[in-house]
Amino acid sequence: MHFAVLAFAFALPVTTWALDNGLMRTPPMGWLAWERFRCDIDCENDPKNCISENLFIDMADRLSEDGWRELGYVYVNIDDCWSSKERDSQGRLQADPKRFPGGIHKLARYLHDRGLKLGIYGDMGTYTCGGYPGTPLDKIEIDAQTFADWEVDMFKYDGCYSNATEQEQGYPLMSKALNATGRPIGYSCSWPAYQGGLPPKVNYTQLGEICNLWRNYGDIQDSWDSVMKIVDWFFENQDVLTPAAGPGRWNDPDMLIIGNFGLSMDQSRSQMALWAIMAAPLFMSNDLRTISSGAQSILQNKMAISINQDPLGIQGRCILKKSHIEVYWRPLSNNASALVFFSRRTDMPYRYKTSLSKLNYTAGSYKVCVYRLRRDMYRV
Ligand SMILES: *[C@@H]1O[C@H](CO)[C@@H](O)[C@H](O)[C@H]1NC(C)=O
Ligand SMILES: *[C@@H]1O[C@H](CO)[C@@H](O)[C@H](O)[C@H]1NC(C)=O
Ligand SMILES: *[C@@H]1O[C@H](CO)[C@@H](O)[C@H](O)[C@H]1NC(C)=O
Ligand SMILES: *[C@@H]1O[C@H](CO)[C@@H](O)[C@H](O)[C@H]1NC(C)=O
Ligand SMILES: *[C@@H]1O[C@H](CO)[C@@H](O)[C@H](O)[C@H]1NC(C)=O
Repeated sequence: MHFAVLAFAFALPVTTWALDNGLMRTPPMGWLAWERFRCDIDCENDPKNCISENLFIDMADRLSEDGWRELGYVYVNIDDCWSSKERDSQGRLQADPKRFPGGIHKLARYLHDRGLKLGIYGDMGTYTCGGYPGTPLDKIEIDAQTFADWEVDMFKYDGCYSNATEQEQGYPLMSKALNATGRPIGYSCSWPAYQGGLPPKVNYTQLGEICNLWRNYGDIQDSWDSVMKIVDWFFENQDVLTPAAGPGRWNDPDMLIIGNFGLSMDQSRSQMALWAIMAAPLFMSNDLRTISSGAQSILQNKMAISINQDPLGIQGRCILKKSHIEVYWRPLSNNASALVFFSRRTDMPYRYKTSLSKLNYTAGSYKVCVYRLRRDMYRV
């Protein structure tokens, strides 16, 4: 018997997903500061939103108290603009003393005490993208050791202010340096995004050997347009990208922006469904202190999360693309699979009729489980 999962939805920019089951053997999940909070360092005028230890403590409290951690959202990731502009007297990176008076190690302890993990950010070049001290070749070992000493659990290595030759050396070197610390630290590489994301410049076999996840494409912004650009690029290049993904190595289409200002509820469901099908890391960048219950329930949807976290770790594909409708498919463990029906129509619902045999499912008996996006809009 096959166990298939079907999700039908005909709505505006709509989607759905369907079901099933799985350092980062499944895509990492958590929260990342960048898209929502950027490089806001004005703690005097914006104390609640500036990049400071308070922000990360607040998010850690929300993750552990509002049901996120139990669903798998365990990483709390610092992005750019956390550090002092100067290294310390021993040449080590240090947190900005005003905004992180307790220091990073103490923050890591706070998270660990709550069953959460801490991610931090650095850059392969002379400076980070925001102009803070970078981690060029000659600083790789000392910075990897510093992060390990602080008991950091994940490291994102950005690529501003470096060239291709330096990146070719730096990204593998950092992988070795992190390993040499003896502390398991998830490693997120921005390298391919700086090299256009495609072969021959990008070698996905190599990336899978040295990084746990990597950013293939440009930064997400808080808009539907941005989500669609990313989705289009990922599926146009699915023949290159899908074989690269698997347990411990993930393509990263960037953060979930659900709960911010740019997406409607339907668009939010669509991002969640497509990120689940893509086996994408699920890093939310939003304000968990003020998130709406609607956005929260999309991000906490158990079916979407279980599809995303399926232990086989196979990245889904677009199997059908017509003018208004696209169908995405992802094989899951236990003979299951997930389908997303995604309507691009924005003026009215799109009526679409299909069958499992039209979607090339072989004859047999299937158990079908529909994620009900809109009760009035589908029929199985
Ligand atoms: C990359 O930068 C280094 C300096 O860090 C320089 O020596 C090298 O020539 C540059 N390579 C290219 C291809 O620009
Ligand atoms: C370092 O790499 C070795 C060999 O690949 C591996 O067995 C070990 O678990 C790694 N250690 C850490 C801390 O990543
Ligand atoms: C890509 O990387 C792999 C593993 O490091 C290596 O064996 C292979 O030769 C590389 N391919 C190309 C085209 O450079
Ligand atoms: C999966 O489906 C195949 C083909 O129908 C069947 O032979 C196999 O027993 C199924 N496996 C499981 C775990 O259900
Ligand atoms: C189903 O298989 C046929 C024949 O191989 C192919 O032409 C068609 O594109 C496939 N359809 C889907 C939705 O995969």
